[in-house]
Amino acid sequence: MAESRVQHAANPPWMHPTMLHPAHERRLCRLDDVPDGGALALTDGADDLLLTRRGDAISAFRNVCPHAGQRLDWAPGKFLIRDGVLVCAAHGASFAALDGTCLGGPCRGDRLRAVALRVVAGEVLRLLE
Ligand code: FES
Repeated sequence: MAESRVQHAANPPWMHPTMLHPAHERRLCRLDDVPDGGALALTDGADDLLLTRRGDAISAFRNVCPHAGQRLDWAPGKFLIRDGVLVCAAHGASFAALDGTCLGGPCRGDRLRAVALRVVAGEVLRLLE
């Protein structure tokens, strides 16, 4: 009996995995673009976003503080972040960098507004609402 040479649902070898993301996803950056233990500011359409990362864990939020609606960075793309805590430059509210919970300050108990992501082959994709 002849050996089967049927290939099953494989993508063409020239097709990078990120080329497969459907219309409800949009590429934001590479995972490595976000400093490990730090944050990155991005503009995606009309949204100012901030991305935080620790190792392979990454999160994205609107760059809008729930206290008074100001940006969290003290200069564009410059964040006060250390040991997993992100501090709003306006009035000092502190947030858990990966889940966005306010840990202290004027909006304690509130949280940053999260943006859904997934990572495919090192590419960070935003899941559009
Ligand atoms: S606007 Fe962020 S703490 Fe006030």
